[in-house]
Amino acid sequence: MLKPTQLPTLSIIGAGKLGKTLARVWFDNSTVNIQQIINQTQSSSLAAKAFIGSGTPSNALPDLKPSDFLLIAVPDSDIETVAKKLLALELNWQNTVIFHCSGSLSSSVLSCLKSDNTHIASAHPLHSFADPAHSIQQLQHCFCCAEGDDYALEQLYPLFQSLGMHWKEIEQSQKLVYHAAAVFACNFLPSIINASHECLEVLGFSPEQANEMLLPLARQTLTNIEKTSPNAALTGPVQRGDVSLIESQITALENTSPELASFYKMLSSATLKLTDHKNTSPETHTELSHLFNSDSDQT
Ligand SMILES: NC(=O)c1ccc[n+]([C@@H]2O[C@H](COP(=O)([O-])OP(=O)(O)OC[C@H]3O[C@@H](n4cnc5c(N)ncnc54)[C@H](OP(=O)(O)O)[C@@H]3O)[C@@H](O)[C@H]2O)c1
Repeated sequence: MLKPTQLPTLSIIGAGKLGKTLARVWFDNSTVNIQQIINQTQSSSLAAKAFIGSGTPSNALPDLKPSDFLLIAVPDSDIETVAKKLLALELNWQNTVIFHCSGSLSSSVLSCLKSDNTHIASAHPLHSFADPAHSIQQLQHCFCCAEGDDYALEQLYPLFQSLGMHWKEIEQSQKLVYHAAAVFACNFLPSIINASHECLEVLGFSPEQANEMLLPLARQTLTNIEKTSPNAALTGPVQRGDVSLIESQITALENTSPELASFYKMLSSATLKLTDHKNTSPETHTELSHLFNSDSDQT
């Protein structure tokens, strides 16, 4: 086992939820030697140091010294600004890998820092870091999707592998499309479950009761998707091509909440593309398509 002084050094600008979680696990696994922790406020840097268990806290960017790895884990909107401030410091970089973990931004936001002595990348863990104390136990088997310079990717791969993550390299030009995949799977799911809640609230069920009733159903669907595919897991009135039920349901929802009715039609239209046409004739398919894409006063 390498002594701490033989390990590569890592400094972090922005040791918030993600930054301090990754740093803590890397420190615990003896993957890196934590060098500096630079947040906006000293109290936040001290709290991050306490969580990680190592590092020199600061709230002044000019304190930064060159390291082997530099993680910029400030909010996405500040990454490029921090990169430009770093450039102005004119540090004597030594083959440093500078990376961020944004899902939507590519490594190009760090391009002002790219030189013979600096290598840039983005590495996005597909994990929600809402609770760092919980996340430190949960990173194994998550995917990390990365793009950037060859050297940076080569150096970062063992770091993320040491977290037990699956490493995938993606094209820089496809970063936003990649991120949309996470938005669909992660951000839109709560909106869909919330629509279910709104329906059950009309019947007088509390949000807690709605969760108890609906989440087993949602989990079952996820299990079915895992075992087969989104198409094969599809059940319900759109898959069956049950036009009269769907018409009545849209009317019932319009009487309850026009917003819910529009949402139902929008999702049904997308769901229609998933049907296997075993139960839907081309005529039914066309009829449903018109129904889902018509204005409410025409239905
Ligand atoms: N959270 C997630 O689930 C998640 C998942 C995947 C990827 N990511 C990515 O991880 C990155 C960080 O997100 P996060 O959720 O960890 O953010 P966060 O919890 O809000 O933490 C941001 C940290 O950046 C510091 N900071 C902000 N502006 C700064 C500046 N100008 N100079 C130095 N420090 C600064 C903050 O310091 P103070 O505390 O002093 O304000 C804070 O410690 C983002 O790129 C995000 O897209 C997050």
